[in-house]
Amino acid sequence: MTTLPISTSPAVSPLEAHLDFIRAQFPALDSPWAFFDNAGGSQVLRGVAERVSDYLLSTSVQLGASYAVSQEASARVAAGVAAAAHYIHAADSREIILGGSSTQLVANLASSMGEFLKAGDEIIVTDTDHEANVGAWTRLESRGIRTLIWKVNTQTLHLDLDTLGTLMTPQTRLVCFTHVSNVLGTINPVPEITRFVHERGAKVFVDGVAYAPHRMVDVQAWDVDFYLFSWYKVYGPHISLLFGKLGHLLELPSINHFFISPEAAAYRLQPGNLNYELTYSLTGVTEYMSALQSRLGVDDLGGVFDAFAAHEALLAKRLLEYLATKPSVRVIGHPSADSSVRVDTISFVVDGVASSDLPKFLDGQHVAVRYGHFYAYRLIEALGLDQTEGVVRVSMAHYNTLAEVDRLIAGLEAFGL
Ligand SMILES: Cc1ncc(COP(=O)(O)O)c(C=O)c1O
Repeated sequence: MTTLPISTSPAVSPLEAHLDFIRAQFPALDSPWAFFDNAGGSQVLRGVAERVSDYLLSTSVQLGASYAVSQEASARVAAGVAAAAHYIHAADSREIILGGSSTQLVANLASSMGEFLKAGDEIIVTDTDHEANVGAWTRLESRGIRTLIWKVNTQTLHLDLDTLGTLMTPQTRLVCFTHVSNVLGTINPVPEITRFVHERGAKVFVDGVAYAPHRMVDVQAWDVDFYLFSWYKVYGPHISLLFGKLGHLLELPSINHFFISPEAAAYRLQPGNLNYELTYSLTGVTEYMSALQSRLGVDDLGGVFDAFAAHEALLAKRLLEYLATKPSVRVIGHPSADSSVRVDTISFVVDGVASSDLPKFLDGQHVAVRYGHFYAYRLIEALGLDQTEGVVRVSMAHYNTLAEVDRLIAGLEAFGL
């Protein structure tokens, strides 16, 4: 593991003056609990919950009919899809596929790709990913599609491009990797990896589930072919998003009914209806981001996420500096709080302590953290952490405060860290 010095961050958070407003938008934060399990699921915006309720109570009809209520329902759902496209800077709403979970959406894409690819084609997956972005691809081996594993460098905990280079062949069709590991918190350089893969004639599939709550997603700037994340970790409802470039979606075999128009690109991978009320509620996420943009006086969504990054770096710095004083603690991830290197998902193990012990102790202090392998089972195994019940994971969001981190630290001290 590298031992870079902990970076300097701004002394004062750009969100400091707005935290009361921010926290008031999340009713569940008005609670005795300090929530540090945000990579598992974030709190939900009031504006999202209210839209779900309002949709169900006033426009719960089938879409696409001529009567006025159906027209309004259709417009609401379309606005939700447009909000999703805006959030990731997609060029066209037809590139947005919504579904019940990220795991389900990868399975939909893999099922279509399985028909599209031929025996002997190759797909590369990593051993740092959540299993959602591994198992759906390795299951295609039954169709003669080979999968190769891009393994983590167990010393640096990075995915090295040199290693990827040795795995790619003229048969490589797709490279599937995570933007941020939900255990390590390290940000992989998506534009660089994407360029590297494209130069070798393959496409990329990026799991952005652990990235999207923290930094701006820009599918056009990064030129990614496919991108994935779950709204229930991005302050929204329990649905997920898959982006695919329009051209790619149009060439993939449809997994939907034969009579669905091929031009309805997203519907090729989205069998059945969207969840109407949850889709509409996505406008609550973009409305919140716009409100923050005005309050912060920044030009665009990028400015809001820059403020998130600076705030989160302060939270990460406080915790990482504390953990660095404890010889029994090993941080599993980058030791730096630098926001260009990591998000504030921080995992660690403690010598001689089962990872399950700490969260249970902290429950008594109303500090919510979590332990385990987090479905990144292959990573935990590769790092030899399966014997310690995985890692303790503290995953923060922009609405967490330094005072909450101090409560966590007090809890860790009381545990006897
Ligand atoms: C990095 C990552 N990818 C994928 C998933 C799966 O998401 P979903 O629960 O929407 O299937 C998770 C869930 O924790 C995750 O953390």
